[in-house]
Amino acid sequence: MTQSPFADASGTVATIGLFNRPPLAPATFVIFGATGDLAMRKLIPALYNLTKDGLLPDDFDVLCVARTDMDYRRFMERLRNGVARHSRSGIDDDAWSRLGARVDYHRMDYDAKADYEGLRAKLGMKEAHNRHRRFVFYLSTPPTSFPSIIEGLGANGIVTPAHHGDGPPTRVVFEKPFGRDAASAVALNRAAAKWLDEDQLFRMDHYLGKETVQNILIFRFANAIFEPLWNRRYVHHVRITAFEKIGIEGRGRFYEETGIIRDVLQNHLLQILALCAMEPPASFDTERIRDERAKVFGALRPLEVAGDSISLGRYAGYLDEKDVAKDSTTPTFASVKLFIDNWRWAGVPFILSTGKALRDKQTQIDVHFGPVPLCLFKEQEICTKMAPNVLTIRIQPEEGITLRFCAKTPGDRQDVSPVTMDFDFQHRFKDNAQQEAYEKLLLDCLRGNQTLFARQDEVESMWRFVAPVLDGAADGRIPVVDYDKGTEGPEVAL
Ligand code: BG6
Repeated sequence: MTQSPFADASGTVATIGLFNRPPLAPATFVIFGATGDLAMRKLIPALYNLTKDGLLPDDFDVLCVARTDMDYRRFMERLRNGVARHSRSGIDDDAWSRLGARVDYHRMDYDAKADYEGLRAKLGMKEAHNRHRRFVFYLSTPPTSFPSIIEGLGANGIVTPAHHGDGPPTRVVFEKPFGRDAASAVALNRAAAKWLDEDQLFRMDHYLGKETVQNILIFRFANAIFEPLWNRRYVHHVRITAFEKIGIEGRGRFYEETGIIRDVLQNHLLQILALCAMEPPASFDTERIRDERAKVFGALRPLEVAGDSISLGRYAGYLDEKDVAKDSTTPTFASVKLFIDNWRWAGVPFILSTGKALRDKQTQIDVHFGPVPLCLFKEQEICTKMAPNVLTIRIQPEEGITLRFCAKTPGDRQDVSPVTMDFDFQHRFKDNAQQEAYEKLLLDCLRGNQTLFARQDEVESMWRFVAPVLDGAADGRIPVVDYDKGTEGPEVAL
């Protein structure tokens, strides 16, 4: 019998953290910031689809918490509209009423102690029948509210460290960005560690929940032929791109606080980088995968503000967006050239680029291989046509993988053309419904599987890495160059 590639020497298949699916216990899911954009667009539609697909536990309810006084019926109407607009499968009345019957609304002030007592009573956490119920608190407020919510939950005994073993099991999920910079991330980690163990903390990065992002690991570690080439000897450079066609979509206040560096570069792009660059983990267990991601962040060479390794841009018209300051210096485009100082990648440039209001939505990884050692064709013209091999992993849209190589152009004359081998996700797996990233990750929070969430050390290293970009943008040492909407970004971009 063929042995599984994930088996150890004794033939035992290790616990595969990435694919762990323990049974779900009864649970209450509490959303802070429930009147916000994220709840409407992503969280409730994800819970709706999980309900529709029968993936939630039978005993499951949702408490939506926000600061605003809202009429319950009006609130539910808003949620329903959000699902109708944003759910991947549309909406049907039966599935919606099954979810709707489980949803409640609760108003509270995140800074008022008495309100946390009210929340605890509302959740019935002291009641004997809830002793083993899971309580998952999802913080989808602006990050500035995270510290007071954590303190409120902890100081009022709503969350307790798992190792104490008293009170029902609790988990906290932090929507990204986790803090504003390295100092605030460290402070937030400390604040959370005061009340919870690390294995109760889920730092969200929805890119890790995308099927095609998880597929990077499968592609690399379930195939034997790529790994020998996956290093400085064969790879010339790597581009990781996350371009968006949309602008900031009315989220001026959020964007002015965040900007492209905190919104996408510090988290989504660096996590994709880690999956591309990490060493094979000792197993697919959660902590072994997170160890390898963290090692990549630990080996990143610090960026220099002076020089040409950072480009920033802002789309024309950004300053006219609602809630944007007329003298704003917030970038909507960022590109950095970085190096990973370890044996595998020494000297190989990785170029990470992301921006808003660009020509197309396109998230992909291009691994550019080096040229052949010597062109054996006599005609110089053929040699110039011999484009190096490029492996493209398309994360979205048109999810798939393409390998570019050279082929003989048919005909009497000696000639070569670049051609491709293509794998198209949608086409090949058309019968498998694709789960949205938030669906996958919410289930993982309920299951307690942290593989696809950033660990404390990861998130702090990622912030330290982008610090020079944040500082250089804030104090004007890195110019923020204007670019037209619908283009590929500023011309100076790397
Ligand atoms: C979010 C950012 O994390 O990712 C948004 O806050 C961005 O600004 C979005 O538009 C992009 O996600 P996706 O899944 O559409 O690529």
